[in-house]
Amino acid sequence: MSCRHLAAVAAGCDPCFTVDASRVTFGGGALAEVGPRLRAHGVARVAVFVDPRVHGLPWFAEVAASLAAAGVDAAVYADVAVEPTDASIADAVAFARQARADGVLSLGGGSTIDTAKLANLGAATGHDVRRYVAAPWGEGQPLTAALPVHVACPTTAGTGSEVTGIAIFDLRAHHVKTGVASPRLRPTEAVIDPRVTATLPASVVAAAGLDVLCHALESYTARPHTQRPAPPTPTARPMSQGANRWSDVGCREALRLCGRFLPRATHDADDAEARAEMMWAATLAGIAFGNAGVHVPHAMAYAIAGGVRDYVAVGYPPGAPLVPHGFAVALGAPAAFDALAATAPARFREAAGLLGAAIADVGDAEAGACLADAVAGVMRAVAAPGSLRAIGYDDGDVPALVEGTLPQQRLLGNAPVEVTGALLDGLFRAALGGR
Ligand SMILES: [Fe+2]
Repeated sequence: MSCRHLAAVAAGCDPCFTVDASRVTFGGGALAEVGPRLRAHGVARVAVFVDPRVHGLPWFAEVAASLAAAGVDAAVYADVAVEPTDASIADAVAFARQARADGVLSLGGGSTIDTAKLANLGAATGHDVRRYVAAPWGEGQPLTAALPVHVACPTTAGTGSEVTGIAIFDLRAHHVKTGVASPRLRPTEAVIDPRVTATLPASVVAAAGLDVLCHALESYTARPHTQRPAPPTPTARPMSQGANRWSDVGCREALRLCGRFLPRATHDADDAEARAEMMWAATLAGIAFGNAGVHVPHAMAYAIAGGVRDYVAVGYPPGAPLVPHGFAVALGAPAAFDALAATAPARFREAAGLLGAAIADVGDAEAGACLADAVAGVMRAVAAPGSLRAIGYDDGDVPALVEGTLPQQRLLGNAPVEVTGALLDGLFRAALGGR
């Protein structure tokens, strides 16, 4: 199926794809390797990024012990913000500049790893990170400088940030999520220890797991690389190069693991097997989307998360409105996959089957609804909010949500169809009621 989908190269389009990933070390006890690994890169002093919660967990003590044993001096920044903003990034950059370190280590979820990426960028280049943010929110300058070594240690099974060259933050003045995307931003090494997921609250496992599910689904259904215009030079091929045979492999296994293990991992912190399998799914989906790219649900998510008024998910810090990234992505996903399935019905049906849906009698016309139902079923199984109304949006918000999504051209250009304002209007209206 996938060979047929990718075999025909459209006129002027790209017959090739490039595989790129961080070095990955995966397994129980891997955190003990961070000190020797940094030392092997010649790092003598490292800037460590962690959030206040993780700073108090035994995983931080393990990392500190590994650094000390390897003779690596550490300057610790323990104020990483959940869902970072331009202000919190500026604070982290200021720390990195003063730390005078020759390497970076991040221990945390996507917010922490993204903060470390941007602190490393800001300190190494001396520029405001918005220089490298795509227009219209930034200057859109390419990142040409090589950055200091970054070893990333995820503590959630979600964002895949440890293996991608993408860092996201909230540009508060415009109420949008934006970010920097460059292969040079990809961490040098990912050290992934699935034991860390034992301390995660259920809602964090649920949100992070839905992010994994959408990374896999969007990468699997992205515009095939064979239908993306060929780059002007071989080295100008984008990271979001579209669905390809490499990313397909990781997507299929990640979807199978999400369907089988995400509800178990969410509801039982003692289910070490389920939590470890979700960590592996996150790694596979992260590598896949780092080489294929996500599209419509992630583009919608940035507007959804940026415009929320007073919703705060259970298990997240109170005091400021916050839709966890994984919930924001999932809320638009059923409507988006239903609407896009006509581009490759067999592929959408196969994805539903990998999530556990019965697909033997599903025809091409029902493939989108089948996949949308499968995604909505997982959302219900992990007690995620099921509709935009459930997080405080109503019909009057749709124009602003559409307006907040259209600038996400890096993502929308990776969709299997041209994404118009009218299409997004329909998707947001469908997402208001849920499925
Ligand atoms: Fe994501």
